[in-house]
Amino acid sequence: MTPPSSTIGLIEWSPDDVYLAEQDCGTARAERWLARHLRPGDRNALDIGCGTASIGKMIAELYPTIDVWGIDLPGNLVGWKDAGANPERVLAGSALDLPFESGMFDLVWSFGVIEHIGEPDPPAERESDRLRYISEMMRVLRPGGRAIIVAPNKSFPLDPAHDWSATNFGHRLFERTHLCLHATWGPHPLMSFQEVRRMAREAGASKVRPLNMANYFDFVRVGAGRAGRLVPVARFYLNLLPDWLGATPLAPFLAVELTR
Ligand SMILES: C[S@@+](CC[C@H](N)C(=O)[O-])C[C@H]1O[C@@H](n2cnc3c(N)ncnc32)[C@H](O)[C@@H]1O
Repeated sequence: MTPPSSTIGLIEWSPDDVYLAEQDCGTARAERWLARHLRPGDRNALDIGCGTASIGKMIAELYPTIDVWGIDLPGNLVGWKDAGANPERVLAGSALDLPFESGMFDLVWSFGVIEHIGEPDPPAERESDRLRYISEMMRVLRPGGRAIIVAPNKSFPLDPAHDWSATNFGHRLFERTHLCLHATWGPHPLMSFQEVRRMAREAGASKVRPLNMANYFDFVRVGAGRAGRLVPVARFYLNLLPDWLGATPLAPFLAVELTR
């Protein structure tokens, strides 16, 4: 596959550990989880909002027949080089305006990104940005190609990845436990499975289904907080949930597969 014309080179900079932790969801197992969802015909893949591009790097190493691309906002150019990203395959750009031809990819994934799209805009603008984000995914997929979106579930009241609290108590709780207690109703940066599905259908997805999250997380952040003792319970619980429960308030995270 030839690179798109907007390929931008890497600049010299050494990211510190804090930066890398921020850009990497702490999901060292996510690559292996994703590997379980690859199909034999997958040849061209794209990671949207790739962060340090570590997921794509590992997939490319494990599966040399797959040409893996990554894209993230220009601010992330700084982190890719030290993280070992392939400069010919990681681009600076926006998920809302992908610099790729239509129908180029068999598989697209976007982990921990949808909840940041359109933030902190008012709900109506956020909604239209997210519709555009999913529409762009659909555009770059070949017919029958798949997109996988992963994000915390709005319908589940605890978010282990972001502090959405509006109160000091909430902030302190998050600092100590790495868990944010949040509303499960009304406009919110997080989305429910039903909201993602409605948007995906509007963007042209022919099929939308939940996936289970067994063995997705390594629980680095929560494990370091006071809720660390709950990690074995959380791991056991997540590994137990079947696919279909991923569409319900019982799932802490959403993993949604969209077929074009
Ligand atoms: C929490 S990080 C997740 C990184 C990576 N996907 C992972 O799982 O480790 C969210 C990423 O989404 C990227 N992002 C947010 N809005 C974006 C946009 N409009 N276009 C491209 N990337 C975006 C951020 O720059 C950040 O790297």
